[in-house]
Amino acid sequence: MCGIVGYIGNSSAKPVLLNALSTLEYRGYDSCGIAVKNGSIAIHKDTVRVEVMQLTSPALDGTVGIGHTRWATHGEPSSINSHPHTDCTGKFAVVHNGIVSNFQKLRQQLTKEGHVFSSETDSEVIPHMIEKYYQGDIEEAVRAALDEIEGSYAIAVLTADENKLVAARKDSPLIIGVGDGEMFLASDVPAILDYTDRVIYLEDNDVVSVTKNAVRITQDGVDIDREEHRVLWNKEDVQIAGYDHYMIKEIHEQPRVIRDTIGDFLLSSDAAKDSGIEIGDDLSTLSIVACGTSYHAGLIGKYVIEELHGIPVRIDIASEFNHGRRTIRPSVAIAISQSGETADVLSALKRLREESVKTVAITNVPGSTISRVTDQAIYTKAGPEVSVAATKSYIAQLIALYQLALSLPGMNRGIKRSLISQLKQMPGKVEQILDGTCGIVSCAKFLSKHENVFFIGRGINYPIALEGALKLKEISYIHAEGYAAGELKHGSIALLQENTPVIAIVANDNTYDAMISNIKQAKARNAPVIAVASEDNEDIQAMVDYVIRVPRTGNMFSPVINAVALQLLAYHTAKFRECPIDFPRNLAKSVTVE
Ligand code: AGP
Repeated sequence: MCGIVGYIGNSSAKPVLLNALSTLEYRGYDSCGIAVKNGSIAIHKDTVRVEVMQLTSPALDGTVGIGHTRWATHGEPSSINSHPHTDCTGKFAVVHNGIVSNFQKLRQQLTKEGHVFSSETDSEVIPHMIEKYYQGDIEEAVRAALDEIEGSYAIAVLTADENKLVAARKDSPLIIGVGDGEMFLASDVPAILDYTDRVIYLEDNDVVSVTKNAVRITQDGVDIDREEHRVLWNKEDVQIAGYDHYMIKEIHEQPRVIRDTIGDFLLSSDAAKDSGIEIGDDLSTLSIVACGTSYHAGLIGKYVIEELHGIPVRIDIASEFNHGRRTIRPSVAIAISQSGETADVLSALKRLREESVKTVAITNVPGSTISRVTDQAIYTKAGPEVSVAATKSYIAQLIALYQLALSLPGMNRGIKRSLISQLKQMPGKVEQILDGTCGIVSCAKFLSKHENVFFIGRGINYPIALEGALKLKEISYIHAEGYAAGELKHGSIALLQENTPVIAIVANDNTYDAMISNIKQAKARNAPVIAVASEDNEDIQAMVDYVIRVPRTGNMFSPVINAVALQLLAYHTAKFRECPIDFPRNLAKSVTVE
């Protein structure tokens, strides 16, 4: 996934473009580049982070430009493969997020017609196609080019011949920021927060022509109107605010995120309807599709809904659902995606809608694609999440799933009241963990010296073992496996030895004794054990090497507490290993390719 930006107005374009790109680096950061028009088009691009380019790039005069920050799909990270790409004449510059699936065929045809290519990318065919069709109207040329391009795209096009920007989207996000005497194009809202809170969300197959005072949106050449929205986020939300990393800032925002998300639910007059599930809905076969951390949230949702309502909930990793066997047609499908742009999830939704399944999205980004391709969207209130590792958006997903479960009809009123009371205690309990990270930091220091780690849990905390392992892997590069604790003895225990630490999630529920047995099995193989256990557990210390203490909480909500502890463990471990925590190698904040 990549980040694209565009600017046309009265200010110098270069600083605006680079500042906007710096807020999109979570979308990809192996290279970046800008193109600015000042008579002709000047381009500067390189395999550097945006902050380096801000310091090292030459002066580029001009008030119209485009920019790009890249997560490589076709062609290794290199200066020549970075965007913007141009045609042979240098009159057209393009930045692209997505994949041109038929680029080889187009490239062969264009080469036969005399076009010369310089990069290995799929994207480079776009400016050449525009040049091929340009006859004085850049918008027409872009439309003609896109008619032959297959795949996904969000593009911004700069031409030396006209004082406007042209952009288009299909299966990749693109917004317009509306300013006073200036306009912005961007992949995502954080890029424009420094300049405006007025935004237009473009839809698939929109082609837009932008001057500094006007926007013209068309579909198949026909003018259409798109509503202008006020963005609820503000620029403070995307600033690091004195923290060492966005990740630790966002971990510390979690008490507020929980309060905000609960607030909406408790105030709702019809929480069931707000949860996307209508009372009349057939709930006999609920289904959940998601990826990565969102999938781990879905596993908790499955457990809670089944536990509280006895409704069978099927959950699929979206990429498996897309290529899996013909499945039982669910009555309602819940798609969970913090970005709302994950290609695997959007593909699953396409299939579900073809089967006339009612679809509900749980997402953190207003205006994201998923909110437009589902029957109802539940918005988590985490605010913009910059760090690639999902933390606050994950906790917000858990809270949304708890609330959905509590909203379903048939809940025992007394149990519901008790659970809501426990839910309202979560912000305070998370604050206790955030205030007392000393136990976690010493565990992290120990863990940082290892290369292989197991996380084990049972019941509702088995998904937390999976999530704890994913967090550690993606930001510290330590190989970690999340395991159902009872499963370890069926093979993987062969890997346990003195340099294979085991993180055991010990909950005060019916899994307690079995977890203690698993800890003893690990210790019998000389594996160091770190237990995550409640603060009042007096027995655990003698059984393990380290204890991460968490506040005691009802079993149903222990995942929230344990997840926060493991987020902190991953963060501090990565810090000891001096990893680029917010922008880990090879990753992107949202994976918009399958
Ligand atoms: C989370 O820390 C990871 N970066 C990744 O697994 C992520 O959860 C996954 O790509 C799904 O993203 P989504 O929630 O935006 O769909």
